[in-house]
Amino acid sequence: MKRRVLVLTGGGDCPGLNAVIRGIVKRASQEPDWEVIGSMEAYNGILKEPMELMILNDKAVAGIHAKGGTIIRTTNKGGPFAWQVKDKEGKWIGVDRSDELLKKLQYNNIEAVISIGGDGSQRISQQLYEKGCNIVGVPKTIDNDLRSTDFTFGFQTAVEVATDAVDKLVTTAESHNRVLILEVMGRYAGWIGLNAAIAGGAEVSLIPEIPYDIGKVVKALRKRVVAGTGFAIIVIAEGAVAINGQRTFSQPVEAGYENVRLGGAGFRLMHELNEAGFKEDMRVTILGHLQRGGSPNAYDRILASQFGVKAFEMVLNNEFGKMVSYKHPNIVSVPIIQAISEYNYIDTDSDLVKTARGLGICLGD
Ligand code: F6P
Repeated sequence: MKRRVLVLTGGGDCPGLNAVIRGIVKRASQEPDWEVIGSMEAYNGILKEPMELMILNDKAVAGIHAKGGTIIRTTNKGGPFAWQVKDKEGKWIGVDRSDELLKKLQYNNIEAVISIGGDGSQRISQQLYEKGCNIVGVPKTIDNDLRSTDFTFGFQTAVEVATDAVDKLVTTAESHNRVLILEVMGRYAGWIGLNAAIAGGAEVSLIPEIPYDIGKVVKALRKRVVAGTGFAIIVIAEGAVAINGQRTFSQPVEAGYENVRLGGAGFRLMHELNEAGFKEDMRVTILGHLQRGGSPNAYDRILASQFGVKAFEMVLNNEFGKMVSYKHPNIVSVPIIQAISEYNYIDTDSDLVKTARGLGICLGD
């Protein structure tokens, strides 16, 4: 019987997941005594009865590097330590099925697990590692909010989508003499927003790392719109917040097995601008999941392929409890515990922020 490694994708999807899966399988197919099994929808596939597993061979992964999403599906709900079931009153509660998971891995001759996921998924990886599971983590997120890797795959594609949106908004803003507000994703980090603002030439970029003074935003807009070109683009990250203000959530609390969800910063900003006396014609665009869908760009395909090959080599070398990481120009491994303890905020003294200021972009401070 062949030696088996289980591969799963967890959390929100991200362009490049399929390229990671293909990288793992292509590298594993060079080792005749190994086979790769996919668990559908993260750990659900192995925990469900009957199990939902998929043999991942060269044929199954042919051409998938160019495809968005994940062929083995994903979920950001539950997991082996908080498997979601309804109690007698119909309320969702989490049940710990991690012991059962470890037994199922053993019965199915699975020696190792490669978990491709963001910080939530890697927290699960660390807990499983502490219980004796041979696990390797692969970081993924469009948000680029993990400090232990220079970049995560999916991020560059998301920046391209957001930049394309800015380019499109510019032409319509100019035609109508409007202020157009673009809300982008990124959770508590402003990487997508600031990069798209620089690449697209926005006038204002509001990010979570720099709480904004609405008076200063109004001043910058007046200079540009009223005394200048007549139109402006504002890129606001979903996690951005005014000084002494509150973040906006489309779902503020963990409800049932739904995660907290950010959203609404764009409309909140339009309201704040109005309240501050800025009465120009304004509209809001929420870019949403367009940033996560579709084909990964070449950069993300390459990074994701590197992560996939490295993850399987880590299994071969028994490097468990570790996560793949990009430290330019190398693909290395770092302890998962370190990876999940460091959030990657934009350094407000960084050259990226200085570049934005040098271009005259108002950051709200
Ligand atoms: O972490 C990726 C991300 O797209 C964030 O930018 C966003 O806040 C969140 O996931 C949205 O998640 P979902 O809509 O899948 O719950």
